[in-house]
Parts: sequence; structure tokens; C-alpha cells
Amino acid sequence: MCGIVGYCGPRDPVDVVVAGLRRLEYRGYDSAGVAVPADGRIREVKKAGRIANLEAALAADPLPSSGAGIGHTRWATHGAPVDLNAHPHVSADGRIALVHNGIVENWASLRTELEADGVAPVSETDTEIAVHLLARAVAGGIDLTTAMRQVAPRLEGAFTLVAVDAHDPGTVVAARRNSPLVVGVGQGEHFVASDVAAFIAHTREAIELGQDQVVTITADTVEVTDLDGAPGEVRPYHVDWDLAAAEKGGHDWFMRKEIHEQPEAIAHTLLGRHDVDGRLVLDELRISEEELRLVDTIVVIACGSSFYAGMVAKYAIEHWARIPCEVELASEFRYRDPIVGPRTLVVAISQSGETADTLMAIRHARAQQARVLSICNTNGSTIARESDAVIHTHAGPEIGVASTKGFLTQLVACYLLGLYLAQLRGTKFDDEIAAVVAELERMPVMVQQVLDDHGVVTELAAELAGARSILFLGRHVGYPIALEGALKLKELAYIHAEGFAAGELKHGPIALIEQDLPVFVVVPPQGRDQLHTKVVSNIQEIRARGARTVVLAEEGDPIAAAHASVLITLPKVSTLLQPLVAVVPLQLFACELATRQGHDVDHPRNLAKSVTVE
Ligand code: G6P
Repeated sequence: MCGIVGYCGPRDPVDVVVAGLRRLEYRGYDSAGVAVPADGRIREVKKAGRIANLEAALAADPLPSSGAGIGHTRWATHGAPVDLNAHPHVSADGRIALVHNGIVENWASLRTELEADGVAPVSETDTEIAVHLLARAVAGGIDLTTAMRQVAPRLEGAFTLVAVDAHDPGTVVAARRNSPLVVGVGQGEHFVASDVAAFIAHTREAIELGQDQVVTITADTVEVTDLDGAPGEVRPYHVDWDLAAAEKGGHDWFMRKEIHEQPEAIAHTLLGRHDVDGRLVLDELRISEEELRLVDTIVVIACGSSFYAGMVAKYAIEHWARIPCEVELASEFRYRDPIVGPRTLVVAISQSGETADTLMAIRHARAQQARVLSICNTNGSTIARESDAVIHTHAGPEIGVASTKGFLTQLVACYLLGLYLAQLRGTKFDDEIAAVVAELERMPVMVQQVLDDHGVVTELAAELAGARSILFLGRHVGYPIALEGALKLKELAYIHAEGFAAGELKHGPIALIEQDLPVFVVVPPQGRDQLHTKVVSNIQEIRARGARTVVLAEEGDPIAAAHASVLITLPKVSTLLQPLVAVVPLQLFACELATRQGHDVDHPRNLAKSVTVE
């Protein structure tokens, strides 16, 4: 996830683009850059770090005036967050500059093709491949728009590309697939950007672009086509947000925006996970397959929401890969003298990659010869750097303190790890693994369905805004989701909330049940062993004692519905993957309830996003 801006018009494009990047900084802040066509060649400035670094570099060495410009603020995926890997990337002949948001999955084969053609890429990015392909195409005598139509179909994965050609200095050309891009329509000026926030200061008139569309803007014109050059459908709309709301995409909180970004975040985390033969591959694996086959124990360590993702991982890894798996709070791990050794794989889960408790636990594990695989959302973070292997979640920057899209993408990464180990150790057949991967790939649609259907949750939050205590119950993978639901409520609404394993109810927590106490119950899908029946019995037990039951159950589950004071329906998914859909209403509920109580949802009291002290 990165932020991109392009501009054509009478203003100074550098000023417009850099101001736009500032509004898109929520999409990434590893590096930033800007490029303009001037005097027959591209001139660019790019710097690692926040946009302030770019502004300082531009102040020291200003770019010449131009009729167009493009810029980028980066969330690193391929290649470390250093100057060399910053965008825009410029072709070897200095004619084309390109910015990119997304992941080009087939970059390695395209790089080989370019190298055979005498092109020597200088960065580690997947993006640079595309600028060389564009340069090769325009050198053959076609314009940049036609070149974009030729190059875009060759790229697999997700991309928004925005480019300028020094031989056509008043034009910006862009294309999109699976990544966002909107056009801003001004008076004698046009914009392209990842999000209207980039140009809302200049115009509120926008055009939404469809999948696989190419757009060419000049100061006076906008041309939208499909990849074959046929006129594309143009969907203009008026933006009714103000400038203040713009960075949050029209939402009141970053958290709410991030909840709504989850379908996209899941899709990005799944990109590029299998090779041409359908076999799963991991990102950065510095542990040999032989060593992984010999692993006899897995210990998952994490804190907060990441710990609950780890609890789900245990169910998935043990079920699919048949390796004993423990889950431990990172802050407890090294103080109990854990038994780990060369055949232990420690899986560290951390959105930020900087949590001190998790980092210290990793260092302790490595000192005991264990191998460490981390699941991180922050490329280049300390935990990622100190691990033997990394699975990157591609959620984009998470700004709200309470983790949402970070958590969902961690779940996806945990599932991928479980399936990868099953593939490696032969505990599942390839077609069984492929079936789960296919179901994972349907998850963005399922999560979107939950988001679209949140009316019940909003009403419930209004109704329960005065509650003193709320309980959450779940069983199997529903248990960590109950814990996560309770944590979200504690973090944001500051009310007493507890999660329990539903089977433990009768061993103590049932004493808490009193008339009208709200209890959320995550009901597993029907049909797996006796899991469903047992949870339904638990609901009956608490209902008989006066609880107000808020039941989360799959659609078409009349038995669970019959015991619900309030029913929240979930799409039909398999048992192990249900956390991906079940947690979303709980996130929305906590966000909504805290909003109604007048709390600052993005900055809950006493909490920090990244806790770098033990
Ligand atoms: C803090 C945050 C939590 C987060 C936890 C772990 O406590 O408030 O939301 O789950 O850290 O963070 P990490 O970045 O390691 O996933």
C-alpha cells in the first residue's frame, strides 16, 4: 500500500504533488519522491523517510518548472526502504518516470527478460521492471498511453501505475488493477491519485476508475480506455467530505477506515503466494526446507491482538501440519526458561515489528538455537530483520491504535504458514491445500459482505452504550475471537469486558450471568463434530439465567438463531477460517460503542500503537 499522485495544469506540479503526498502519508511513509518532465528529460528527487525529508531535499535543490508531475509515498514491499528503492523510478534513457502501488508478482521473470535485452535494473523493486518495459515500448515509436496498454497486461498481481514521458511533458498516464486510482477534475487542471484526499483542496469532482482501465490526463482533457484502447466507462462523482475528513477516506476514525480496508488488505496479503505450479511459497525464507521438515515443536509468541492471532494459528498448524504448537505471551516467554532448541520453530507475530516484549523473546529463542519466523506488517522492522524468515502481511500502515486490518492479515499469514508446513511435510494433499487457498481467496468478498451488513451492530452499540459489563464466549477458533472482541471493547470503550472459552462457563464464569447481561457468543459453523451443538447448549445455559444473547452464527443456522436475543449473521465459511469473518462485527461494535461514548477511538487512553519498552 503506497500513495501516488499525478498532476497536469498551470500550478507548480511539485507543490501540488507534494501537498497531495502529505494527505496520502497514511498509506505509507518509508520514502517519498517526485518527478517532472523538463527540457526533454526526467528530473526527480526522492528520499528515504518521511515526506519532510523530501521537502528538505527539494528546498536544497529545486526541480525546474513543468506542466506535469508525479509523486509517491512508499510502504515498502519489495526492497528495503532506502533512497535507491524510492519511487519514482526512471528509465535508463531518462525519458520515462513511473510510480507504482501494489505488487508485481511476475517481476522476476520480467527482470530476466529485460536483462537478456541488455537492461540492468539498479533497484531491488518490482516497480523498476515496469518503467523499463514502458521505455522499451515508447522507444519503438508509440505514445505513452499505447505503451501503458501494452505493458499493463503483462504484469500479474496488483498495481496502480502512473507515468510521465519527457517527450510529452504535459501528459500523465495511469492504469489500475486491484489497487485504487481516482481522477480529480478541476478547471483547466486534472489529477490522478490513490485517494481523493490528495486533491480535495483543489476539486471535489472526481472520476472512479474501473478494473484494467487506462487514463490519460492533460490540463484540459481526460481520456479513459480499457486495455484494448476501447473507450472505458466513466463514472463521475461528487465528493462530499471536507479536507479534515479526507485522510480518513470520509470516515470519522482511522480505525473505522482500516476496518473497511480489510477486504483489500486480505487480498494483498494473499498476492504472490504460489508459484506457477500452485505450490505455496513464503517471502523471505532463510531456513532450509530440510530444517523445516525436522521441526518438532512450534512456539508462537506475540502480544495483544497478535497473541490472539497466534492462538488461531495453533489450531490451524496442528490440524493441517500435525506439528505440536504452543502459544505464549511474549512477555512471559523468556522468564520461564522455555525448552527450545534447534528443532523448535519460534513464530513471532507483530504488526509493528518493534514490540519490545516480542523482540526480547526472539533474541532469547535465537540464543537457544531456535529458528525464528516472524509475521510482520512493517518491512525493515527490527523483528523482521532479526528473524530467520519473514512472512510480510500487506495491510498497509495501521494508524488506529487498536489493531484491525493488522490482525486479519496476521490470521491470513498464519493460515498460509500452516498450509505451507503441511505442503512441506506432506500432511495434506496438494488439492486439499489448494481448496483452502481458494477459500482464502474468496475471503475479501466474505468480509465485504459482513461490512455491508453492519446495521444490526450499529443499533446494538446504540442500545448497549450504557452497559457496565459485556462478556464474550467462543469455542475452538471462536475462543481467541471472543478474547479479541473483549480486548477491543476494553481498549476503546473502557468498560469491563471478558472473553471465555464457552466450555469453561460452567467452571466459574456462569456465576457472573445476571438478568440482561449482554453476552456475545461466536457460534461455529454447523456440521463439524459436536462443536456447534455444544456452543448452542452454552447459549441455552446463559439464556436460562437471564443473559441477553448476541449470537454470531452463519446464515441459515435456525438452531443458533432460535436462542438469540440479537442475531448477527456471518457468511458460510469453513470452521478454521471463521475468525476472518467473525471478528469484524466485534471490531465494528467496539468502534461504534466507543464513538457513542465520546472517546477518541484512534488514541485510547494509556495505550500506544507500538510498545517499545518491556
Ligand atoms: C500494543 C497495541 C496492540 C497490539 C500490541 C502488539 O499493545 O496497543 O493493539 O496488538 O501492541 O503489537 P504488535 O505491533 O507487536 O502486533
